[in-house]
Amino acid sequence: MGERAGSATEVVRVGSGGAAEAGARGVVLRRLDGDGPDIPALRSAVLRLRLAPGQRSFTADATATLPRADADPNRTPFAVVRHGTAVGFGILDRLGSLAAIADEPARAVMFRAFYIAPEWQGQGIGRAACAALDPLVREAAPAATEVLVTVDPTNHAAMRCYLAGGFTPTGRHHHPFDAAPHPVLRRPVVLTSQ
Ligand SMILES: CC(C)(COP(=O)(O)OP(=O)(O)OC[C@H]1O[C@@H](n2cnc3c(N)ncnc32)[C@H](O)[C@@H]1OP(=O)(O)O)[C@@H](O)C(=O)NCCC(=O)NCCS
Repeated sequence: MGERAGSATEVVRVGSGGAAEAGARGVVLRRLDGDGPDIPALRSAVLRLRLAPGQRSFTADATATLPRADADPNRTPFAVVRHGTAVGFGILDRLGSLAAIADEPARAVMFRAFYIAPEWQGQGIGRAACAALDPLVREAAPAATEVLVTVDPTNHAAMRCYLAGGFTPTGRHHHPFDAAPHPVLRRPVVLTSQ
């Protein structure tokens, strides 16, 4: 799929470091706290990715979540890059709500603030990003043996995306103070890249 006319996305030359590894559909996860020559352009690009208005109850734009990640040493923000174009954003969080949702918080990492820009949704990029998490997790949270994510039960697209991307329900629920319980899903981390 090529560039979309009028899209807020742009092509950025992606460097070779920072857990970049071509996965399904040419999807690469590129951490945004590195110092590679492509990072400033990728950071600018993700800050232009806006959620659809109807999806803002599920997460916030990177304009809000990237600065918070920058200020928190437990969070590693990353861009979802497809053929050089930043199409999505996410964060790995080594603290978050892990104490409440993980059996062994020190051996888990939370996947949060994840979205694919609306013009790129429904093309398998979300599930490819989930399936490409392992190299980034090994780098950003080396002690983690599992990735956990919590999902709003009304967010059917996210649930299908996570299930297709290798997550499975744990049977646990996270209890936000202002919303219905969120199922907790897990994805085991393959500890070597063999
Ligand atoms: C959830 C999200 C990341 C999925 O990304 P994506 O690139 O569209 O995912 P995929 O193309 O891999 O599709 C995954 C599933 O979602 C479904 N899907 C995608 N967009 C959809 C939509 N607008 N409505 C309903 N289902 C949708 C797809 O049909 C697919 O399911 P299927 O293969 O069983 O039919 C994306 O929809 C998104 O960014 N949503 C807004 C933010 C959000 O909800 N983040 C998750 C917070 S937990």
